[in-house]
Amino acid sequence: MRNQVTFLLSLALVVGLASAGAVFERACPTDVEAKQYFSVDAYLGKWYEMQRYESEFELNYDCVQVRYELNDDQSVSVSNSAFNLFNGSTINALGRAVLSFPDEEVIQGKLNVSFFGAPNDRSNYWVLDTDYQTYSVVWSCEELEENLSEESFWVLSRTPTMTTDRDALFRIHNIMRRYIDRSQLRFTRQLDEQYVASGKVWMQVMEALTVFFSSL
Ligand SMILES: *[C@@H]1O[C@H](CO)[C@@H](O)[C@H](O)[C@H]1NC(C)=O
Ligand SMILES: *[C@@H]1O[C@H](CO)[C@@H](O)[C@H](O)[C@H]1NC(C)=O
Ligand SMILES: *[C@@H]1O[C@H](CO)[C@@H](O)[C@H](O)[C@H]1NC(C)=O
Repeated sequence: MRNQVTFLLSLALVVGLASAGAVFERACPTDVEAKQYFSVDAYLGKWYEMQRYESEFELNYDCVQVRYELNDDQSVSVSNSAFNLFNGSTINALGRAVLSFPDEEVIQGKLNVSFFGAPNDRSNYWVLDTDYQTYSVVWSCEELEENLSEESFWVLSRTPTMTTDRDALFRIHNIMRRYIDRSQLRFTRQLDEQYVASGKVWMQVMEALTVFFSSL
């Protein structure tokens, strides 16, 4: 009985939260424009994830934070961290980013990001717009097969809560209207220390529920 209930409970959680990710039955759009005159230096530092297309890699993870720092060789070190509210586990991913096309006359906000030492051979992180101080809107697309592609999308913020600046919000909204399927968006909970504590409380509630159902 207990196992069965735990199983059902887990299933409910998984089904409730998992989405297929942003897979579209089409080729990658070719009309997406990245930010022009992009400055890597101004982009460095810490960002908090506000929204994203759910991805298998991040499934169920919240508190996603990213830190970009300059390496000696002018590449960018990428440190991603995330917290799983359901089992309290933290994940970290270390990566490296380089400008996709550093020799272009007008530098675009296109980067090749790879993790765990993989080659930087894909232009998979396009900054569509950022003011460097408040927000960043990032997108990428990968062809899976003919007429099937997977898109990633992130709204990042310099602060754990989204800006209320009208101009910034207007610009973010514009990008979303042009390129984004809102039905696939997921809001990321950004948890400071206090929230992490409440995450633990939430887990305790789930455990208590499991025990309660098992005892029926
Ligand atoms: C927590 O859940 C994630 C994915 O749902 C899993 O990959 C990870 O191993 C789990 N960690 C623990 C400590 O159970
Ligand atoms: C980034 O990836 C693209 C392929 O998507 C490739 O053409 C380009 O040369 C790469 N840039 C660097 C600096 O490696
Ligand atoms: C992909 O889409 C194009 C345009 O709609 C179509 O002509 C082509 O047959 C499709 N290919 C496949 C494998 O479905």
